[in-house]
Parts: sequence; C-alpha cells; structure tokens
Amino acid sequence: MITKNINEVAQALKEGKIAAIPTETVYGLAGNALMEDAVLNIFKTKNRPFFDPLILHIDSPEKVHLYTRNIPDKALLLMKAFWPGPLTLVLPKKANVPDIVTSGLETVAIRVPSHPVTLKLLGQLDFPIAAPSANPFGYISPTSAADVEEQLGEKIPYILDGGIAEVGVESTIVGFEDGVPIVYRLGGIGIEKLEHVIGKVNIADNSGSENIKSPGMLKKHYAPRKAMYFGDIPTLLKKYKDKTCGLLLFQNTLSGYPEDLQIVLSPSGELEEASKQLFASMRKLDNMAVDLILAEPLPNAGLGRAINDRLFRASLETDEGLSREIYKR
Ligand code: TXA
Ligand code: MG
Repeated sequence: MITKNINEVAQALKEGKIAAIPTETVYGLAGNALMEDAVLNIFKTKNRPFFDPLILHIDSPEKVHLYTRNIPDKALLLMKAFWPGPLTLVLPKKANVPDIVTSGLETVAIRVPSHPVTLKLLGQLDFPIAAPSANPFGYISPTSAADVEEQLGEKIPYILDGGIAEVGVESTIVGFEDGVPIVYRLGGIGIEKLEHVIGKVNIADNSGSENIKSPGMLKKHYAPRKAMYFGDIPTLLKKYKDKTCGLLLFQNTLSGYPEDLQIVLSPSGELEEASKQLFASMRKLDNMAVDLILAEPLPNAGLGRAINDRLFRASLETDEGLSREIYKR
C-alpha cells in the first residue's frame, strides 16, 4: 500500500515489518537492521542472494560510531563533506551489526540519506535500517513509489511515498584498503568531487567479472527484461537491422529514426537530469513494443560515469574499450 503517513511506517518497522522508503538516490526496502528476522525478510522479498550485503541507513553522522570502528581520517572527511547525501562508506563493523546484514564480512556499508521524509522516519526509530534498493534482485532500481508498487507491491505492507528520487542512481560506495580509498560502486557523488576532498581515489574495475571487491557488483544488474546493448548507436542499428530497436540517448534524437522509439535523457545535456531520468526511461523502454534496447554512452565525467556503469551492467554485450574507460582513473 502506498502511503504518506510516516508514523504508520515507523510503527510497522518497530514491529519488525519491512517497508519501502524513499531516498534521494532510489527507493529502498527497509527493515530494522538489528533484528535478524526483519533483515531475512528483506532478502527473501527481493530474492537477493545472501552473499550480497546491505547498507545501514542512519540519520546523523555521529551515529556512525555506534556501528563502526577504526574510521580512517579520509572517511571522516568524506562524511563531513557529503553526509547527508548519496555516499556510502564501507568501514570495519562493530559486533552489534548482525552478520546477515554484512554477509559475514568484517566491514559494514553505511550512509546518511538526505531525503527529508526518510530522515524524519529515522528520527522516530531507535535502530538503524538496512535497505537495499526496492527492486527484485537484478532488475532496474525503483525511483518512484509506483515503480516499487508495480514489482513488489503485493509483498510489502507499506510503500512510503516521497515523490520521484532526485539523484536517480544509487549512492557512490567508498571503501579503504590499507588506508587507500577505493570506489567500489560509482554513484551519486562523482569521482571529481571525492578527489576534491581526499585526493586521488582508485576505482574498482568492474569491467570484467574478476576481482570484484563488492559482492553486489556482478555484471548483469540493473537490467531490463529485454536485451540491451550499450555502444555506438549507428553501429548497433546496423548490426540489429532486422529488429525493432528502442533507443536510449543522452541529448539528441537520431534523425531519420522513428521518434516514438527514442528516449532522450536530457535535451539540455545535463548529467543531473539524465541520471534522474535514467531508470524510469529504462523501465519505459522495457515496456515498449520493441525487441531490443540500444543505449549510447554519456560523457564519462561527473554523474556520467555512474550512468555509463549502470548502462554497461544492464547490457548483454559491450565493446571492451568502452567498458574499461568507465573504471579508468
Ligand atoms: O543509494 C543506495 O545506496 C540505495 C539506497 C536505498 O540507499 N541502496 C542500494 O543498496 O543501492 P543495494 O543493496 O542495492 O546495494 C548495496 C551495495 C551492494 O553492491 C553491496 O554489495 C555493497 O553495497 N555492499 C554492502 N556492504 C558491503 C561491504 N561490507 N563491502 C563491500 N560492499 C558492500
Ligand atoms: Mg540494488
């Protein structure tokens, strides 16, 4: 049931139930992170494998010390700069964080979201909430209450409506290995902004399936049901000329191709707008009468990198040079 009643959802979470909640990035599927049954229910509801750990959501930066220890100085700087906001930090966990949340890892992923509705909700709770994106495992993340309703509505008692997610892609995840910051997942805070605060960061290369440091970074994620291909559109159109192709484009339509088979993410060429529209546009194409979805790469800077990462991982095949570029530093 879609609701705007924060108290009602707070009550449900206190009783150990799960609920979908809005965040500035995407909607999350929330439960009391300290209650194993609630967390178990999250995994079951989205059909998520237990090896893929969840993110803890708290409502103030100071609370990070309740659940983590040995926080590197650079992590403190990042918190100061970007919390509340679309940044998740992977830090050594304290014993009170259940193993089911972290898939048995010694670290926990944690963030302070900036959505006012969810901050208010968290303010009524005396526990952190664990929340993965509120989509069936592997599918496109939801950026509206209606998106959640469409796929998980029957399985979730409450969907707290906070409007359309402003950022539109998930949080940037940063971890530390021997004190060196590593971006495990590109997301709502661009690399340039991170580096402005803490200097050079590394990016985990997710272009292959080897060396994946963050268990959720498997390829074939964020994917529509339809086959999707990521690359140069004219080349792909030639390759799939006997199919009806829906196009996902950054700024301009392709002239000479049917308008109703094309979605432009940002006519004014703004990456913020493109990222806000990204997942809704992929869902739209998935529901259109097309055989395939073809997506073009965006400029690989700022939010463009995170968008390219999502498009790459949603796709069946990508040019290797192109995918390497996304994770290059
Ligand atoms: O923006 C977001 O982060 C959204 C909203 C709801 O907050 N949440 C989200 O959660 O995207 P989810 O579960 O879809 O993605 C969490 C990612 C996974 O890729 C997981 O592997 C990684 O975080 N992760 C969680 N704990 C980790 C850990 N201890 N070490 C490395 N990666 C971790
Ligand atoms: Mg997810």
